[in-house]
Amino acid sequence: MALLNIDGLSKEFDGLRALDQVSFTAEKGEILGIIGPNGAGKTTLFNIISGIYPASDGEVAFQGKSILRMKPHQVSRLGIGRTFQIVRPFPNLNVETNILVAYGHRFYPDLWNSTGPFRRADTLKEVQILLEKTGLQPYQKQLAKNLPLGIKKRVEIARALALEPRLLLLDEPSGGLRFEESARLMGLIRTVRDQGISVLLIEHNMQVVMDLCNRIVVLDHGSKIAEGSPETIRSNPQVIEAYLGKSVRLEDEED
Ligand SMILES: Nc1ncnc2c1ncn2[C@@H]1O[C@H](COP(=O)(O)OP(=O)(O)OP(=O)(O)O)[C@@H](O)[C@H]1O
Ligand SMILES: [Mg+2]
Repeated sequence: MALLNIDGLSKEFDGLRALDQVSFTAEKGEILGIIGPNGAGKTTLFNIISGIYPASDGEVAFQGKSILRMKPHQVSRLGIGRTFQIVRPFPNLNVETNILVAYGHRFYPDLWNSTGPFRRADTLKEVQILLEKTGLQPYQKQLAKNLPLGIKKRVEIARALALEPRLLLLDEPSGGLRFEESARLMGLIRTVRDQGISVLLIEHNMQVVMDLCNRIVVLDHGSKIAEGSPETIRSNPQVIEAYLGKSVRLEDEED
């Protein structure tokens, strides 16, 4: 049984087909790339999987069970974590507390009630382990709003990991990052995968996609136009055409 099964998924916004009969599966232990030009429907796909938008048609099953009618907190409790294209940690909380709040989310329906009772030795220890794993220990007392983007993105991943997901949805984690920051973040994503967490990765940087992903699904104007290994996707004429002359990028991207 696939970890995630997307079947005939469609989404309309006022007559616009943001997703059109999209089907694919994600398996345990893989990094599955989701690529496609701007407006292809990638973020919409994540918004449906994570329960933010209802689908217009089709099915999404996680570990064999339909999750389409679940609310975002139910989906996350079931084991699907996510980060957002635009980072959104709590700006006035420090890194440690940002992660602590995410731990509270496991147990409390109301986020705002969760920090107090959660300042317990055992939870703080779990937070420390996660800070270490994600390379965030040096920043733990800094307010999230003062951090550079690369570290903020790391905090987002740490917050998602605090929910102990089986599947992590990452929306353009390397967007806006310089090469070194992006490389460090990709190292973290690889570590996450090696711990048995599957990853769906939306990513524009082809170098990153080709290096990191076991398989790639390509969306264009809401439809799946290709699926396969990085090697087959790289040379697929339909994919190259969808990127409208960006074929050079697909082959030769440097940074
Ligand atoms: N809430 C919404 N209401 C109306 N239209 C929307 C909404 N969300 C997305 N869309 C439209 O759906 C289409 C797909 O958008 P989506 O954000 O999923 O694309 P994307 O592949 O993530 O693009 P990008 O690479 O620019 O992030 C776009 O035409 C977008 O304008
Ligand atoms: Mg997007």
